[in-house]
Amino acid sequence: MKQTVTQPERIEGVAVPPGDKSISHRALLLNSIAQGSAHVSNLCVGDDRVSMLRCLRGLGAQIKKHGPCPVSQAEECFEIHGVGADGLVEPTSVLNAGNSGTTMRLVSGLLAAQPFFSIITGDRSLRTRPMKRIVQPLSEMGATVMGRSEGSLAPLAIRGGSLRGITYTMPVASAQLKSSILIGGIHADGETTVHQPAASRDHTERMLRAMGAEVTENELSISVCTSDLTAVDVRVPSDISGAAFWLIAGCCHPNARVTARGIGINPSRTGVLDVLRSMGARIRLENVQEGGGEPYADLVSESSNLEGIKIEGDMIPRVIDELPVIALAACFAKGTTVIRDAAELRVKESDRIRATVDGLSRMGAQIEERPDGMVIHGVGHLIGAECDSFGDHRIAMTMAVAGLLARGETSVTGAEAASVSYPEFWDSIRDLQGD
Ligand code: S3P
Repeated sequence: MKQTVTQPERIEGVAVPPGDKSISHRALLLNSIAQGSAHVSNLCVGDDRVSMLRCLRGLGAQIKKHGPCPVSQAEECFEIHGVGADGLVEPTSVLNAGNSGTTMRLVSGLLAAQPFFSIITGDRSLRTRPMKRIVQPLSEMGATVMGRSEGSLAPLAIRGGSLRGITYTMPVASAQLKSSILIGGIHADGETTVHQPAASRDHTERMLRAMGAEVTENELSISVCTSDLTAVDVRVPSDISGAAFWLIAGCCHPNARVTARGIGINPSRTGVLDVLRSMGARIRLENVQEGGGEPYADLVSESSNLEGIKIEGDMIPRVIDELPVIALAACFAKGTTVIRDAAELRVKESDRIRATVDGLSRMGAQIEERPDGMVIHGVGHLIGAECDSFGDHRIAMTMAVAGLLARGETSVTGAEAASVSYPEFWDSIRDLQGD
């Protein structure tokens, strides 16, 4: 599917992105293996949710759609009856994680502890993404995990069972890897400790704690002990990674004010706010609240004069999903923006360094590709062009926002990729354009 976008005279309005994808996945998975029942509302929508639900149901999880939520004011929610630590069943068919790396890596942590055989695979993109990073620690814990290319690539075949606690130094700052090990860890004998090279999103740790697990943190190290989980109700905040598109549309357009409502502002995720504010963006937080162990707020972004900055080191895991759209913002900044230490971008749903450089260059950006990032010289304007999503939801949405900011018409082929995390994205674009 191809979508076209042009620059409106003004961008104004309220956007409510879907529920946070990372929190949604954890709420579904962890409640499924807890004791008791829980209601989860404002769950993420889109293909990745379908993938997680499909895998969990394939394992016998009891999750069903429910009408109005009895614990939040939401119009609908999901009701999960936890089957407990030993309640999952051997899947009768191959589990399919679709395009969702989080589903594959978190569910693999779960499968490693199950006394049965399972196979988990994904779509063409997911089958090229690195899995050795989870295969290695889960094997060290005692699971038998095999995959293509010496265990580097999915499909993965897993024969799980009793696990032992390990101490593991993670080679990359990845929340998916950390969570996979911690999920194995709550089922293991003894303590499991992970040492991270830098902090990544901590939703798993927060939710495990809320469910009664013993989780301790010491700087960059996290430990869990064998734990039985108690189901908890979760009202998922809206996704800051979805909000980032509107915040950047707001601060880069010369005549804009956009409000993104109810957005999760967990500090491990607010790198995009810190980066944009250091660039000079006028973004303010309103109605700051807390629910289910996660803070959230309304974010208001207005036309701003941006300046280039360096984005590197420990900041990278805090902005990993927003870097393509931050590179777009850098095109409108005065001076040069350098993004480095971000080689992980190459192994996301697409090679996001290559895809971002390709799309923005077509639109007249001065952007250079580096092995671990990009260098962007602000040009202050872009020109509409034909761009591709590379089958990646975040690239589709980045190029669409670029179209809102460019002179002339921009077309995005493969625009349907946005539905992986934000099925209503294209409707929201039309709303904010005043169509
Ligand atoms: C996620 C972690 C991040 C992020 C992904 C979701 C998660 O990946 O890119 O979209 O829910 O744990 P890392 O594993 O690189 O941190």
